[in-house]
Amino acid sequence: MSKGYLLYNSVESKILISDITNLDSIITHKGKILINNDLTNNLRDYGQKVFTTKGKFYYILKPTYKDIILKINRTTNTINSKDIAHILVNTSINKNSKVLEIGTGSGAFSLFLSHFINKAILSIDINFKNLKNSVSNIKKYGDIDYVLTLLIENKLNKLPIKSKNYFDAIIIDLPEPYIYLDLIVSVLKDGGDLVFLVPNIEQVKQSREIFAKSGFVYFRTYELIEREWLIREVGSRPYEKYLNHSIFLTFAKKIKN
Ligand SMILES: C[S@@+](CC[C@H](N)C(=O)[O-])C[C@H]1O[C@@H](n2cnc3c(N)ncnc32)[C@H](O)[C@@H]1O
Repeated sequence: MSKGYLLYNSVESKILISDITNLDSIITHKGKILINNDLTNNLRDYGQKVFTTKGKFYYILKPTYKDIILKINRTTNTINSKDIAHILVNTSINKNSKVLEIGTGSGAFSLFLSHFINKAILSIDINFKNLKNSVSNIKKYGDIDYVLTLLIENKLNKLPIKSKNYFDAIIIDLPEPYIYLDLIVSVLKDGGDLVFLVPNIEQVKQSREIFAKSGFVYFRTYELIEREWLIREVGSRPYEKYLNHSIFLTFAKKIKN
C-alpha cells in the first residue's frame, strides 16, 4: 500500500505530504489548511474533504506511486514511473525475488519495489549524498525494512554477497552497465533477469553486444512514450507538455555457461 496523503483539489492543485506530525498548517494554492485534531482525525479517513482558510476544499486521497515518484526529493536523475512499471512486466520479479539495484539514485525504484516484495532489495551507489537522500525518501514513502542500501567505493566486485547465483534480478541504472559485468555474471542466478537503463542508443548497442558475449540471451529494448490527455467538453487533446525521451530499457536473461 502506498504511504502518505495526497491533498487533491484538481490536477493543477494537489499536494503530497508524508506526515503532518510537526506541521501547524499546510500552505496550498487555495489558502492554508490548519492542522488541528479534526484534520488529524480526518487524515485517517481517506476520501474526506478538508477546508482551507479561504473556504476552498481538498480531498484526502492515498497517493499513487506516480504521485510519489514525481514529488520525492531528487539529488540525481530519477527513473520515470512508466519505466518502473515496464520493468515488472518484462521480468519474472515476484514477491519472493532477491533483487539487486546498481545506482540507487534518489531511491525511486527501491521505494516502489519495497511495497511489493518480501525480501530486502540490495541497492548500491557510489555517492553518499544520493544514498542519504534515497534512505530519507524510502522512509517517507516506501518500506525501509525491505531495502538495504550500501555505499560502495567503486570496488566493483566487493559486495557482501558471497554466494554465486544469488539474485533473481539485477537492475542497473548507469550509462555503462557493463562495468559491472563480472559481478553481474557471478551473482545473478542462471535464468535470472538483467535490466539496464541507458539514455543513448549507442550505449544500448554496445552493452547488448558485451552482455551477449557473456551468457545473456532474449534481449528486448524499449523506449516508452506516455501521453496523458486533457479531456473536456470541447477540444480534448494530449497535454502540451509530456516527456519525450526518458531512457532506453533493455531486458535479457542469463543462461548457464
Ligand atoms: C540515474 S541515477 C539512478 C536512479 C535510480 N535508479 C532511481 O530509482 O531513481 C544513477 C546513480 O548511479 C550512481 N552511480 C554512478 N556510477 C556508479 C557506479 N560505478 N557504481 C554504483 N553507482 C554509480 C550515481 O551516484 C547515481 O546515484
